[in-house]
Amino acid sequence: MFLTDPVRGLRTIGYPDAVVESSPTLIDVIEHQAASCAQLGSPLYASLLTGIATDYLSGGFTAELLEGVSDQPLHDAIPLRYLATAHRLALAGVAPQLAQHYPSCEGQWDGRDITDSFLSAVALHRGEFVRGVQRNVQTNEVGRAPVLAAGFSEIGRRFGLALRTYEIGSSAGLLSRWNRYAYSTGESSTGDQSSPLRFDAPWYDSPVPLLQNDLVVEGRAACDISPIDVSTEGGRLTMLSFVWPDQLERFARLKAALEIARDDELAIEADDAGRWLATRLGTPLPDGIATVVFHSIVWQYLPAGTKEAVRAALTSAGALATDRSPLCWLRMEPANRRHADLRLTTWPGGHDQVLAHVGYHGANVRWLA
Ligand SMILES: C[S@@+](CC[C@H](N)C(=O)[O-])C[C@H]1O[C@@H](n2cnc3c(N)ncnc32)[C@H](O)[C@@H]1O
Repeated sequence: MFLTDPVRGLRTIGYPDAVVESSPTLIDVIEHQAASCAQLGSPLYASLLTGIATDYLSGGFTAELLEGVSDQPLHDAIPLRYLATAHRLALAGVAPQLAQHYPSCEGQWDGRDITDSFLSAVALHRGEFVRGVQRNVQTNEVGRAPVLAAGFSEIGRRFGLALRTYEIGSSAGLLSRWNRYAYSTGESSTGDQSSPLRFDAPWYDSPVPLLQNDLVVEGRAACDISPIDVSTEGGRLTMLSFVWPDQLERFARLKAALEIARDDELAIEADDAGRWLATRLGTPLPDGIATVVFHSIVWQYLPAGTKEAVRAALTSAGALATDRSPLCWLRMEPANRRHADLRLTTWPGGHDQVLAHVGYHGANVRWLA
């Protein structure tokens, strides 16, 4: 099964088990990315990538910089690495010729081709681009918090216990900080209602979930194979650079979450999800606390051995779970082309249920449970 990667907009490996993509050439990937950006609401990048494709075909800077960087340019999202490097420079204030066109930098794009401005930034900052195209595309979509908050509410209601969360594939850990943001369906609410980052009724379609306003998070930990440290200016800039510059709502959400993270220390451990979870769940589950392992849009990126290790760690810890020390596996992962599922498995018992359907970026939460 092939799915559209919600972040990159590329056809990618499927869920639950990986399917190998055929190997398209770099120009195929650039043109494909242009079409995806047009489809996914970034006309600026769609236009820019069309100009970049022309530069590549005429043997310009693009060909020189991108050729040979990866033998799987689709998988490695090479055009997005190139664009993010430029965005980072624009955000840092050192590429004003680009910043003037990027809404994320308070510039304005009038719909005209800006490839010349882009290529002039490449010419001036060649070294940055050589390094930038080696950096993996790394995103952390805060818009997935509203559906996760609904899932945590369901767990709180079922067990009536405080929560301890373990997030795998957490990127910068912005979703592990979900209880620092405010949520309201119009009928119920949860999270920190004084938070500057709000997710209100438009995020929830009918039927809406019942949010619990008395949830307590007793502890949390998170890992990623390649975490981004947003306690540094460089880390924050890197995260922002991967958002498309004309997607202002996403950009504003991410900025707000990064501000909140400044005074909410959470070290993301650099580790493989399977290995990390085996260690974390290797000690007895605490009494009077619901332990919740969660992840969003991660499963398709995990090697088969890691998936096995995650399942094994959950199954063995689950076997020892009790009503006073339950174990929960909450995940938002692709179901089909149109939506992802929020799914919950709970132990004791291993009861499994799809709680909600949700868009890949977290919009249109539709509660089923
Ligand atoms: C598409 S991102 C999703 C990030 C975040 N969960 C979100 O919803 O915004 C997938 C994440 O999985 C991480 N990842 C990939 N392989 C991993 C592994 N073996 N162990 C832990 N994390 C992994 C990546 O580094 C990346 O941060």
